[in-house]
Amino acid sequence: AMVRHYKFNVVMKNATKLCSTKPIVTVNGKFPGPTIYAREDDNVLVKVVNHVKYNLSIHWHGVKQLRTGWADGPAYITQCPIQPGQAYIYNFTLTGQRGTLWWHAHILWLRATVHGAIVILPKLGLGVPYPFPKPNREHVILLSEWWKSDTEAVINEALKSGLAPNVSDAHTINGHVGPIQGCSSKEEGLTLKVKAGNTYLLRIINAALNEELFFKVAGHNLTVVEVDATYTKPFNTNTIVIAPGQTTNVLLKANHKAGKFLLAASPFMDAPIPVDNRTATATLHYQGTLASTVTTSASLPPTNATAVSNAFTDSLRSLNSKEYPARIPLKIDHNLLFTVGLGIEPCATCLNGTRLVADINNVTFVMPKISLLQAKFFNIKGVYTDDFPANPPTLFNFTGSQSQLLKTNPMTKKGTRVYRVGYNSTVQLVLQDTGIITPENHPIHLHGFNFFVVGKGIGNFNPNKDTNKFNVVDPVERNTVSVPTGGWVAIRFRADNPGVWFMHCHLEIHTTWGLKMAFVVDNGNGPNQSLLPPPTDLPKC
Ligand code: C2O
Repeated sequence: AMVRHYKFNVVMKNATKLCSTKPIVTVNGKFPGPTIYAREDDNVLVKVVNHVKYNLSIHWHGVKQLRTGWADGPAYITQCPIQPGQAYIYNFTLTGQRGTLWWHAHILWLRATVHGAIVILPKLGLGVPYPFPKPNREHVILLSEWWKSDTEAVINEALKSGLAPNVSDAHTINGHVGPIQGCSSKEEGLTLKVKAGNTYLLRIINAALNEELFFKVAGHNLTVVEVDATYTKPFNTNTIVIAPGQTTNVLLKANHKAGKFLLAASPFMDAPIPVDNRTATATLHYQGTLASTVTTSASLPPTNATAVSNAFTDSLRSLNSKEYPARIPLKIDHNLLFTVGLGIEPCATCLNGTRLVADINNVTFVMPKISLLQAKFFNIKGVYTDDFPANPPTLFNFTGSQSQLLKTNPMTKKGTRVYRVGYNSTVQLVLQDTGIITPENHPIHLHGFNFFVVGKGIGNFNPNKDTNKFNVVDPVERNTVSVPTGGWVAIRFRADNPGVWFMHCHLEIHTTWGLKMAFVVDNGNGPNQSLLPPPTDLPKC
């Protein structure tokens, strides 16, 4: 294994899209930011230097951070932010991980522009590098959103009014708006050059703040081979669905002789909220295609195409081969049911006299003033309580098995509460959407672990009927899962990583409103079962 050094200078930079220019926070002046390349088991050191006026932290989304929670990144959870003028070296090892992950700022809404890919190549010396035919080339495809306004202003305005924030003005592919949404011919977008007969591995990442996306390539099927840096049983599809936080690797076979084909991404939203059907586009361009050739367009599913989304997610299975076994916990130590949803609370200064909040099991999470991990490691009292409820409170009314779960009381309780588990214990967690304001899908991300998605359904979870249908043979393994609108998912993981691990909705607005909590995993008694001590340059609050 190697040591990989990166330097991230966080600087402001002007960017022009949709014919308007604004200063954005960037890493090394780039949007999207630089790709980190490494191999499985490599040690990665990233020196982040903060040259902007905002407090900062960077999260390595999907990196398990075995015993190195200090390098995980969520501000006030595992570290205090890097203050303006300060620096911090993130030091972590990609133990047993390979595939596509990504990094992003984990404070305020800075991840809108502060994000990039992590490409972890397989170890050298494996006879067969991938459990699928080796592609001729590979490309990172980063999907994102763009606001003409400053994103910090967008969220601050929303918090002041108590209402939902403005939706973005465009989607982007590798930072480009593309010809369809673009305001001038300058916004042509990305061109991917391909050669007839070759196979390409596309490493697709959804870095959008608030929208799940459909993605497709006109005239081509995509073979899904990996999600969230775990191999899947390959399957063919013409459309993928990808939630913020998720990554999906697909093989694309250039099986035309020539031509230009559109690559396109557009929102998937089946909640009854304002429809956003803007499409980001790029072009797949075969070598030797005549300049005059008309680009074949891609017809994306309608925004509310739940069936397309379900068909995709229901096809995902972990590879579960001899080389890459799925180690699904079968005996469960902690059996949890968490409701996830939106609520309201009184707010005298807000427009409607109320403001939107979000909760898990009716707890609206309040960010602490110092990081939870420091509080745990140094035994600082009064920062959090370890009484996060294992089940929803009785004010939730489980009526009718097929109706959505409703809360009888929209008011949530505030708290910095964590759920504590012993080293190596196993957790089954059912995440149930609630619909006090509106049902909505919630891509839930767990830091520090991958989990297995053993079940999914619409309506209320029914332990008596649904548990025996769980897939404990080859469930997909990932780090971010979408709780379907008005439905539930069940996940399982083994708590073999001591530390404090954030779990939250990866729709940034829902996180801001409080749809977040943390698991505390105690040290084990054996060797190599304890959290390592903090690095000496750990930022101070
Ligand atoms: Cu990708 Cu806590 O986030």
